[in-house]
Amino acid sequence: MIRTTPSAVNLQPWKVKIVNDNNLKQELAPHIPSGQTQALTCSHMLILCANIDWESHIEKTIENMKKAYASEESLKYYQMVVNAMFTRAPNSDKRIIESQKNVFLAAASAVFGAKSLGIDSCIIQGFNVDAVSKTLKLKSNLIPTLIITLGYAVDSPSPKNRLPEEDIFF
Ligand SMILES: Cc1cc2nc3c(=O)[nH]c(=O)nc-3n(C[C@H](O)[C@H](O)[C@H](O)COP(=O)(O)O)c2cc1C
Repeated sequence: MIRTTPSAVNLQPWKVKIVNDNNLKQELAPHIPSGQTQALTCSHMLILCANIDWESHIEKTIENMKKAYASEESLKYYQMVVNAMFTRAPNSDKRIIESQKNVFLAAASAVFGAKSLGIDSCIIQGFNVDAVSKTLKLKSNLIPTLIITLGYAVDSPSPKNRLPEEDIFF
């Protein structure tokens, strides 16, 4: 599901660290103050990282397009939209913002995908980004953005508390 998530100019500007090792979960838990319980009791934890190394992804996407015999025209168009993206995000701070927007969509795919398989999840934003990066020894192009804990619920969830339709749609 995460892999099929749409992204701006098909950049797929994310990498996902899958954690199921209990020792690693224990190392990470103190850095996830708003999700310590889930971090320790989940089956798997996904650390969704924004990846600002766009160049490597673009190169691979163009290679794949060529392998699929994409027309010169579509390659040209792709290069044009990619260039526009680079113009919009000329430095790493802006690239982080752009990448993170896409990561949030990948997170939604993961959560709904898991639910479709009967697996519950919790999205966690409240964690110490630097400490998680350090623990996972992440390269500088990867910025941990969201953590998703996955597992089977031990109890039945309380009913969803959501705003009524009229407060949302206009
Ligand atoms: C972007 C985002 C960040 C979140 N961060 C946290 C978090 O740090 N800790 C936590 O316990 N839940 C976190 N949540 C979960 C929300 O609190 C939860 O989805 C919301 O309260 C609705 O709960 P429900 O889906 O169980 O009804 C986050 C959800 C989203 C979408």
